[in-house]
Amino acid sequence: MNILGIESTAHTLGVGIVTDKGKIFANERDTLKTEGRGFLPREIAEHNFAVAPSILDSALEKSKLSMKDIDLISFSQGPGFGQCLGCGAVFGRSLSLKYGIPLIGINHCVAHIEIGKLVTGLKDPLTIFTSGANTQIIAHKNGRYRVFGETLDMGLGNAIDHLGRYLGYGFPSGQIMDSMYSQGNYIDLPYTVKGMDLAFSGILTAARNKIGKESKEDISHSFLHNVYSMLLEVTERALAYTQKKELLVVGGVAASKPLREMTGIMAKDRGIKVAYPEMQYCGDNGAMIAWQGYLQYVKGKERMKIEDTVVKPYQRLDSVEISYI
Ligand SMILES: [Fe+2]
Repeated sequence: MNILGIESTAHTLGVGIVTDKGKIFANERDTLKTEGRGFLPREIAEHNFAVAPSILDSALEKSKLSMKDIDLISFSQGPGFGQCLGCGAVFGRSLSLKYGIPLIGINHCVAHIEIGKLVTGLKDPLTIFTSGANTQIIAHKNGRYRVFGETLDMGLGNAIDHLGRYLGYGFPSGQIMDSMYSQGNYIDLPYTVKGMDLAFSGILTAARNKIGKESKEDISHSFLHNVYSMLLEVTERALAYTQKKELLVVGGVAASKPLREMTGIMAKDRGIKVAYPEMQYCGDNGAMIAWQGYLQYVKGKERMKIEDTVVKPYQRLDSVEISYI
């Protein structure tokens, strides 16, 4: 069985093709980038609509398959930018109706966790899910993924990209910020953990106010040091509470080397296993959507009519029942 997944929650249009055995044939994508500025949701949606047909073609070509070989189509139903989600939904519905292939909408955040489990082999991890839009500490319990701590304002990736833009880097700026981390020294910046939750806007403003007074290296180093320490404090408490023996780090920020180093040290100290998916499965991608489609449609026996495929920009992962575990 071959499953085609369409990702379009934000600035990446991805098409992935996986089998029911978890073999990944293709994971093609095109990500919108800018220089020195962010972007408008409308611009991203226009980008996603423009590149979707060619990304589909390259995924099929790479898999050596045609649409006749596809048994199921899945797409990101939420959460995300409404206009971008609309692009993925329209693309998925069009292909489903044209080729008579069943369609299922899935939760993007759950898909990040499940592809992480598939490619790392972890079975029941506590997950740090941190990307541009999301930052949550999550574990599965009693039929759902539960959130044990999360950001109260912005996603960590968004905070890093904001600071990167203030420092004059383009978008995304995670890689440049990462390279600055090893070159800087610590300067004092706020540290905001509220119970099990996190807030990044205060430290972002404080770091912005240091621009021109401190070096870019020191600002980047100290900002990353504090935000990752905040994330780890909450993670460590969630590990103690849930008694999970595995830690999975997913989402775009999981690509960060300093974050990997810090989580690695913490996991070693606690005697637990930690795993990070390969880079191509950390950020948004089509393969994770396809695999989530398989889990819900085949293992979970879920079905959707076209009228059920309306997009859900604010859908939380803990609102979704997980029938396949
Ligand atoms: Fe994502």
